[in-house]
Amino acid sequence: MKNTVLTAKEQKAKGEKISMLTAYDYSTAKLIDEAGINMILVGDSLGNTMLGYEDTISVTMEDMIHHGAAVARGAKNALVVIDMPFMSYQTSVYDAVVNAGRLMKEGRAGAVKLEGGVEVCPQIKAITDAGIPVCAHLGLTPQSINAFGGFKVQGKTEAAAKKLLSDAKAVEEAGAFAVVLECVPAKLAELVTKEVGIPTIGIGAGNVCDGQVLVYQDMLGMFSDFTPKFVKRFENIGEIMKNAFVAYDAEVKAGSFPAKEHEYTISDDVLDKLY
Ligand code: KIV
Repeated sequence: MKNTVLTAKEQKAKGEKISMLTAYDYSTAKLIDEAGINMILVGDSLGNTMLGYEDTISVTMEDMIHHGAAVARGAKNALVVIDMPFMSYQTSVYDAVVNAGRLMKEGRAGAVKLEGGVEVCPQIKAITDAGIPVCAHLGLTPQSINAFGGFKVQGKTEAAAKKLLSDAKAVEEAGAFAVVLECVPAKLAELVTKEVGIPTIGIGAGNVCDGQVLVYQDMLGMFSDFTPKFVKRFENIGEIMKNAFVAYDAEVKAGSFPAKEHEYTISDDVLDKLY
């Protein structure tokens, strides 16, 4: 059954957990969709995981549309949420609506996600008013990494925790259908989850959130540049892939691949005429 923003709302009301994973291409999206994951996030983490950047700052609208549309083609049932990249919404409400519209029209998103609290509420309201569902993102917001001075747990002081709670209420009031909480203390995420009516989706925010999201390469051991504490490695697919590449290399070099069963045939009659 197709997941929508209403599904997420109903799941929170029923106390059913919401699952979300990132994807950046058609074949991975298809596997995630077939596994029954509720939402697929085309995160701007594609800058790190797919494009090899150090952060998400260089990711463009074109990158998000290109990868988002591929994911949308592979996702039959999961709700596809596409990240708005750095400077596609911070500059003005007008830019935010235009760029959210592009992610829907060209990227075939079911919703968009943007980072920030009260300061981006005018954007959240305008995008929502245009009929585009918005997922907010609070806590460690990677597009502000230069302002934070590194990847650090957020909301640990009284002032920061109060700001996070009021930001969560503000994004709900502005019309967000869900909010991602990244790298925040579990007890604070629990409080936010109780205080807001919209689903909270945690990443490094404990298990009391209404849902969870992970970067799929992190949970499969496919990305080793940096592994945050909150990541659980469900399988070591990275190792399996590397072993397969090594085996392929060895067989190609030994001349044992391709074998007879991988060959196409031609009739001797045709072949004889070539000599
Ligand atoms: O870009 C991304 O993958 C994200 C998740 C970490 C929530 O925003």
